[in-house]
Amino acid sequence: MTNPLLEISDLSVEFGAHGQTRQIINGISFTVERNEIIGLVGESGSGKSTTARSVIGLLPPTGRSFGRIVFDGNEISMASAKEIRSVRGRQIGFVAQNPFDALNPILTIERQFFNVMRAHEKISRKDSRARAEELLRSVGINDTQRVLAGHAHELSGGMAQRVVIAIALSLDPKLLIADEPTTALDMTVQRRVLDLMREIILSTGRSMLLVTHDLTVVATYCDRVAVMFRGDILEVGDVQSVFTDPQHEYTRALLNAAAGKGLTTDGLRERGPSAETARVS
Ligand SMILES: Nc1ncnc2c1ncn2[C@@H]1O[C@H](COP(=O)(O)OP(=O)(O)O)[C@@H](O)[C@H]1O
Ligand SMILES: [Mg+2]
Repeated sequence: MTNPLLEISDLSVEFGAHGQTRQIINGISFTVERNEIIGLVGESGSGKSTTARSVIGLLPPTGRSFGRIVFDGNEISMASAKEIRSVRGRQIGFVAQNPFDALNPILTIERQFFNVMRAHEKISRKDSRARAEELLRSVGINDTQRVLAGHAHELSGGMAQRVVIAIALSLDPKLLIADEPTTALDMTVQRRVLDLMREIILSTGRSMLLVTHDLTVVATYCDRVAVMFRGDILEVGDVQSVFTDPQHEYTRALLNAAAGKGLTTDGLRERGPSAETARVS
């Protein structure tokens, strides 16, 4: 038995100063196993982003978290800000909804790759460029010369998100946390980017925590799912079992709503690396 890659125990988060605090996350526990994609699903405002951000120490200054977070055998909930910074990025990559928030508008893409790599290791411009080219190709960008020499505003949304994913992968993180990474993209691009992320994550033995409000995305791309509602996790399980035999009224309601938009539970993903096997119409 191997231990989980990420173990979150009794995580609570509150916002505000004393006297005026509001609890947003109510002592949740779940794990991310090695080499899996787990979906964190729930309606807007249920606390998905807050959960994701607590793991990488990126809560806003008004937020405070409690509980225990163990990453790859090391407790990071107690780590100092400096230690968290070295874990974040290097071992846990983060991809947010809007790629243009993550990219610097005035630096070339090549420079941004270099800055990220250099922050964590001694690397030459030449080596950083070679690695950037390879990563860009791995996310399906062939025109690497042009992209590396250019700036964020020259990229389409789908291309920009691929660049952000490639930058997040440049430090070879064991875990990628993606918070609605394709919500800002149109449907076809969304699928292409998610297909690619699944392929890269599973073929390289990494894991991904995929935050989404979209059950079709969960059905198509995730191995397990955690259902969030108002700061609690109602249930966690294989996508197959949760979708065919939900234990909570709320999960059932979510599934019924998604079924109205065309989600089917036949052909749900079985544990396996191929994105082609899931049939969700
Ligand atoms: N910086 C903040 N200050 C106060 N409340 C916040 C802050 N960020 C989020 N919240 C509150 O926390 C709750 C969960 O938000 P969030 O984690 O963004 O949910 P989700 O990602 O599921 O949409 C919401 O009620 C939101 O208003
Ligand atoms: Mg969110």
